[in-house]
Parts: sequence; C-alpha cells; structure tokens
Amino acid sequence: MNRIVTLDEFIIRRQKDFPYASGELTGLLRDIGVAAKIVNREVNKAGLVNVLGMADRQNESGDLVQKLDLYANEKLIECLQNSGECCGIASEENEDFMPIPPVTGKSSKYVVVFDPLDGSSNIDVNVSVGTIFGIYRRKSSEDGPCMMEDFLQKGTDLVAAGYVLYGTSTLLVYTAGNGVNAFTLDPSIGEFCLSHRDIQIPARGAYYAVNQGYYLKFDVEMRRYIDHCSEMNLSLRYIGSMVSDIHRILFQGGIFLYPQTRKYPQGKLRVVYECNPLSFVVEQAGGKAIDGNLQRILDMKPQKLHQRSTITIGSPDMVDEMKEFVQRYTSVSTD
Ligand code: AHG
Ligand code: MN
Ligand code: MN
Repeated sequence: MNRIVTLDEFIIRRQKDFPYASGELTGLLRDIGVAAKIVNREVNKAGLVNVLGMADRQNESGDLVQKLDLYANEKLIECLQNSGECCGIASEENEDFMPIPPVTGKSSKYVVVFDPLDGSSNIDVNVSVGTIFGIYRRKSSEDGPCMMEDFLQKGTDLVAAGYVLYGTSTLLVYTAGNGVNAFTLDPSIGEFCLSHRDIQIPARGAYYAVNQGYYLKFDVEMRRYIDHCSEMNLSLRYIGSMVSDIHRILFQGGIFLYPQTRKYPQGKLRVVYECNPLSFVVEQAGGKAIDGNLQRILDMKPQKLHQRSTITIGSPDMVDEMKEFVQRYTSVSTD
C-alpha cells in the first residue's frame, strides 16, 4: 500500500529542494491549509446553523456578500495574521490591503491575496464553492510595512497559487511554480493527503463553461464562438463558481469563458484574486489563459486591487483555437 503523504509533509519535503528557502513560504502554505480546514468545517455544517443567507452589506466590488464569505475572510485573515509568515494580505472582501506587523520581530518577504469564498451564490443550495489564493514576494523594502506595489504585480511574479474546492470531497490544489499537485481532505484524520501528483490538463476536452444566459449580451464574435462550441458538440457545464468550473476543466479538459457584457464591460472576474492565481495553476498544468484582447492574463499589470478582466482559460489547444477563431472572425467582419 502507498504511504499517505500529508500536505504538511509534502511542502516541507519541497522546501528541501530549495537550499536557501527560509521556511516562510512553507509556513504560509500550511497556514492556508489550516484556514481551509476551518472554512471547510463551517461550509459542511452550513445547513445546520444560522450562517446561510446574505449578510447585510455589499463588498468592494458591489456584490451581495454572504455570511460565509465573511466567516471565510475572517478565518483566513486570522490564520495569516497570527503566524506572521506574511507582511500583508489583500482580500476580495476588503477595500484595502492590510499590512501585518512582524511577529517576533522578524519581518516577512511575502504578501498573500485571496478570494475567501468563490461562487457564493451556490452556498444556500449546497453546491460547490471554493477559496482562491496567490502568494507574491514583496517588492517594497523589508524594513517597512508592505505597499500597494506588492499586490499589483503581474501574475508571472506569483511565487505560489492555488485553490481549495469544498465539493463532494474537499481538495486543496496548489503550485509553487514547479507543477500542480492536489490534496484531498481525509475527514477521518483531518489531514489533506496527496491525491493527484503533477496534474496535466488535457490538450482538449468535451466541455465549455460560460454563462450562456448572457448570450445576447456578448459581442458578436463571442456569440459566434459559442455557436461553434455547440456545433462541435461540446457539452455545456457551468456551475457559477469559477473554482469548481476550472477544477473540472483542469482534470477533464475544456474551456471556461467570462467575456465582457454590458453590465461588466471589463469582464466580471477579479485579476488579483481570481484570474491570476487560477491562470498560474492552469498554466503550470500545461493550459493557457488569455483576456478579451487575446493577451496572456499573467502578463497583465493590474492597476487597481479590485480590477476586473475578461478571461478565456483552459485546455491549451482549445484556447489557441478560440484565439484563432476570434482573430479570423474579426478580420473577416472588418474587411
Ligand atoms: P464570488 O462568489 O467570489 O463573487 O465569485 C463569483 C464569480 C465566479 O466564481 C463565477 O465564475 C462568476 O462569478 C459567476 O458569475 P455569473 O453569475 O455572472 O455567471
Ligand atoms: Mn470569486
Ligand atoms: Mn468571493
């Protein structure tokens, strides 16, 4: 029988591959693992206690906030703050980033960005939600508090990124820039155990994921591309939680699109909290991610913490084809 490898053991082993590693990154990934277990406990019993439903405020992006969003946000902040392994955090649920003072006098060189609960419209109906995170090395001097520039880095600067999927089982998937690995939470021992090594996204798949209800609000080339998906007999799967939709595509292949709409002319998904970390994971697994201008997501330099973007992400051959399709369609229709 194969011996169980826990998340903690795995990240400690990986740290040994980097002779000058200080252990901070290892510590951060462990903090996120602990927060994920706490959030998982609450998500699992959400139907039993009075945590379901809307809280009474909107977040910085103007969306209605669910109570579990706030809970997950609090727990992540607590876990990251107490360990002092990072010098600042930025959350989708907070207007500004939060500097974290050094614990035991030692200042950290990392900042963490996260979407504490992704897909919150699914919570009340017992459908999968997730947490997304990204870790950057700070740009500002270690002598002072973290600065905005530490958070507005390109996705190519990510040191590590990943997500937790609270689904039929709970999975933590992460990359530190050398492959993607997944860990499934074994509730009987309360540990994330290595379940999928070195994940490779299929070059193509049978699924496309887009909010087809907005079809009439998309630009004509996007409508034609969606028609093309249907003509190719692809199956539509759309959960409304980016983590869950991307997770399916990572394992089974396919393409996820969130194009511009009249309501969201820049796209809906947040560059810092959603697009960049998930694009990093997908690219590390051999996939691709581009925006509505057909530019690589990870090369984009965000100007604002809560900046949104359009996105097309998934199997490499399908993203390439989508790009060619749009280029061809645009050149023909402007001729
Ligand atoms: P969040 O719950 O963090 O606000 O994110 C929801 C996002 C994303 O997860 C999902 O893919 C998308 O919103 C769904 O949006 P539509 O309902 O507009 O399709
Ligand atoms: Mn989200
Ligand atoms: Mn969210």
